Amino acid sequence: MVNVIGLGYIGLPTALMMASHGVEVIGTDYNADLVATLNAGRTTFKEEGLEELFAKAVEAGIRFTTEYQVCDTYIVSVPTPYDKVDKKIDPGYVVAACKTVLQVAPENAVLVVESTISPGTIDRFVRSLLVEAGREDVALVHAPERIIPGNMVSELLRNNRTIGADDPKVGERVAKLYASFCQGEIAITDIRTAEMTKVVENTFRAVNIAFANELAKVCRVGDMDVHEVIRIANKHPRVNILQPGPGVGGHCIPVDPWFLVGDYPETASFVRLALQTNASMPEYVLHRAHEAMAEYGITDPAKVGIYGLTYKEDVDDVRESPTLQMLEAQAEHLGGAAMKVYDPWVEVDVVPNQVHSMDEFLDGLEMVIVMVGHSQVKGKPEVFGDCILIDPRNVMGDDANVWKL
Ligand SMILES: NC(=O)c1ccc[n+]([C@@H]2O[C@H](COP(=O)([O-])OP(=O)(O)OC[C@H]3O[C@@H](n4cnc5c(N)ncnc54)[C@H](O)[C@@H]3O)[C@@H](O)[C@H]2O)c1
Repeated sequence: MVNVIGLGYIGLPTALMMASHGVEVIGTDYNADLVATLNAGRTTFKEEGLEELFAKAVEAGIRFTTEYQVCDTYIVSVPTPYDKVDKKIDPGYVVAACKTVLQVAPENAVLVVESTISPGTIDRFVRSLLVEAGREDVALVHAPERIIPGNMVSELLRNNRTIGADDPKVGERVAKLYASFCQGEIAITDIRTAEMTKVVENTFRAVNIAFANELAKVCRVGDMDVHEVIRIANKHPRVNILQPGPGVGGHCIPVDPWFLVGDYPETASFVRLALQTNASMPEYVLHRAHEAMAEYGITDPAKVGIYGLTYKEDVDDVRESPTLQMLEAQAEHLGGAAMKVYDPWVEVDVVPNQVHSMDEFLDGLEMVIVMVGHSQVKGKPEVFGDCILIDPRNVMGDDANVWKL
């Protein structure tokens, strides 16, 4: 039996996937409201295919509780934020969850940390818990997750995975568990390598995006179309530049690379610069909007609206989103003008001046900053009427009233 600890964006679909593929699963989360929602038969976030997967898992007998269970395998999928000051990983949630697991785990249980952790986290923060608790019989494994919100269910099935274990035999056992649903290749390695590969994967993407963002700024100064430049450069068989944009959000790419910078501040200077470049983009978009306002003689910021609050298209996740970063920058440096904000995917109130319908949003607007290319608007500039569009994601076409990065 598997006890999945932490039923958020990663833990819930993983638990459901295992349960619907013949594994006996109990999901545990210390958030009683979340557990009550799941037990009432409702999912806790929107995601393509999640409802169907949920129904299958419930039919297969998955249970949800706030209690840790006695079972042979634990999968810990709790948050791993970074410390905002020194940028190092904050292992607090992982440590707390592992400590509780050790209080209930039977002899020779397997403790899989699925949360993203920086290289050496298990050695520095988890191994000592086993020693302190006199539980060195428990086998440690790290099995990082790679799925992308918006395509989680499909990627859970198809992505390749990495399993890091002290004992290769335990690694094989855990690989077999994941192979109950995973059709991808499962690489088995040691724990520190598994920790490093996950952080490296997200750092690679952060650096590539930073390169594209810097190109966007260079092309603006040099009066070139960055999208055309990247499109043609990517025709080269060994070039694959990602797209520039209004910044990087979500729980992974703007967070995990800081683990490297935090742990290796003297060495990871190039990564630091890339992260700073990405972090500069929301404010850069704001400056572009101000340029456009000046060009069109718009002086009242209330005539400018922000479309999109989530960190990417067609999800409801607002964590670290470029829009939130932009509003913060606006409040800090640019007087905190009151722009209306609308996102059809975000039903709850997240920021002031947020409205909940397109009609209410467009009322009185002359300019819209399209921060997210949700499918409701992607390729459809007409939904914004006559508004001038600031289009940092290049999803609004090439009309004269569309301003790119
Ligand atoms: N969200 C993503 O796209 C993504 C992708 C790959 C990897 N990851 C990694 O997966 C991990 C989990 O991320 P997430 O997005 O699912 O986080 P989340 O915040 O959505 O969910 C975490 C859940 O853990 C619960 N929790 C925290 N501490 C607990 C404890 N001690 N006992 C029981 N429950 C506890 C919380 O109540 C919450 O429901 C993180 O390390 C993240 O970096 C996330």
